[in-house]
Amino acid sequence: MAPTPFYVAGRPESSDDVLPVTHPGDGETVGATTYATREQVEEAVAKAATARTETAHQRAAALDHVSRRLSENAQEVARLITGENGKPLKWARLEVGRAVSTFRWAAEEARRFTGEMQRLDTDPSAQGRLALVTRRPKGPVLGISPFNFPLNLVAHKVAPAIAVGAPIVLKPAPKTPLSALKLGEFLAETDLPEGMWSVLPVPNERAGELVKDPRLPVVSFTGSGPVGWQIRDAVPRKHVTLELGGNAAAVVCHDWDDLDWAATRIATFSNYQAGQSCIAVQRVIVHERHYEELKEKIVANVEKLTNGDPYDETTDVGPMIDEAAARRVEQWVHEAKATVLTGGERQGAFFAPTVLEGVAPDARVAAEEVFGPVLVLVKVKTDEEAFASVNRSEYGLQAGVFTRDLKTAFAAGRNLDVGGVIVGDVPSFRADQMPYGGVKGSGIGREGLRSAMDDYTEERVLVLTGLDL
Ligand code: SIN
Repeated sequence: MAPTPFYVAGRPESSDDVLPVTHPGDGETVGATTYATREQVEEAVAKAATARTETAHQRAAALDHVSRRLSENAQEVARLITGENGKPLKWARLEVGRAVSTFRWAAEEARRFTGEMQRLDTDPSAQGRLALVTRRPKGPVLGISPFNFPLNLVAHKVAPAIAVGAPIVLKPAPKTPLSALKLGEFLAETDLPEGMWSVLPVPNERAGELVKDPRLPVVSFTGSGPVGWQIRDAVPRKHVTLELGGNAAAVVCHDWDDLDWAATRIATFSNYQAGQSCIAVQRVIVHERHYEELKEKIVANVEKLTNGDPYDETTDVGPMIDEAAARRVEQWVHEAKATVLTGGERQGAFFAPTVLEGVAPDARVAAEEVFGPVLVLVKVKTDEEAFASVNRSEYGLQAGVFTRDLKTAFAAGRNLDVGGVIVGDVPSFRADQMPYGGVKGSGIGREGLRSAMDDYTEERVLVLTGLDL
């Protein structure tokens, strides 16, 4: 099988340095690409630095084209995701659907990305003056994307960059480059000018060179905390956006009356993608009134999940990204010395959906990002105690709060130290147009189309004088 080409300044290329891509479930090869050489990286960056910007209608048309092509090829792309990432086909399809919508939204936003007019004659000294405030790209963007959503988190870097006319050099995760390269195939069918985009598989050890390159003044990174903060420290003068991890909590409040709904959602979203999402449910903090009944229901729902071959249409939970990841989760569960209500076993890269109780707050399965199919139950006496428990975390990405009480919902919005609160559902809900990002150790900046477009650009002011307003 010939290696899939990568894209240098929009042109397909390859090298002699082969990067095989394997399926996490059985280690079988599912494809290959090659790593970009230093010369190819140099060409991509140099051309990004001088790329000409095209008009809004050209950018929007290109984004619409990618959205359409993804939609037309949804089955093939979903199988590609399952192949390289191991997530079950049904979740891979959802990811493709989200990427279709991410590009469509970007096209729509590109068309209405206008700026504003400000009157300045509010002061006598500015009589007859008017400001036109527009947003212009800060410069070419370096996007670094993770393995857990190999298509849609690439879309979240690339689509807003194209929408605002910021050239982008995208480095996909070395374990899952094929979905990003498929996107490259569709981008290559558009009229975007040379240099506007590149998709370059680069070994992680060489990513630092790209991060430090002064011709890429914006770095948008999604991935692990330690790597993210290292990037930020390495380039304090650059504009750095970090979407990092979390140990997302779902709170089940005193007033909540539909425990079946809460249990189903919690069971599903602590295990989707084998828990490898930054907003997978990791901690469930339950009012004591509901604890025993909800515990029973959650365990029953978790035990209903079908584990196994991700290509099987009925599979809910597939393998983790590799055996090393599953071994780490196994170690964390083991060292927690907690009560294992279900799960707890590993087979190769597969880790069984696991529910724990009696976990010490400083155990890694509770305090750190487990990024695996493990859920920790916590009983509290009051909703206030539950909120305090959510906040006792070095992270703050999203939280879910099961309540129907508006006052409690507003209290959650006000008091929880997270980037987003989902009322009546799990923290794992994300619509691709909404602002998404964390506080504290979960990162800086926001994604979501419009938010990322703002992030990649800065305001410029044109003041007109001598006007008869
Ligand atoms: C993430 O893992 O941060 C992304 C979650 C999502 O896009 O649903």
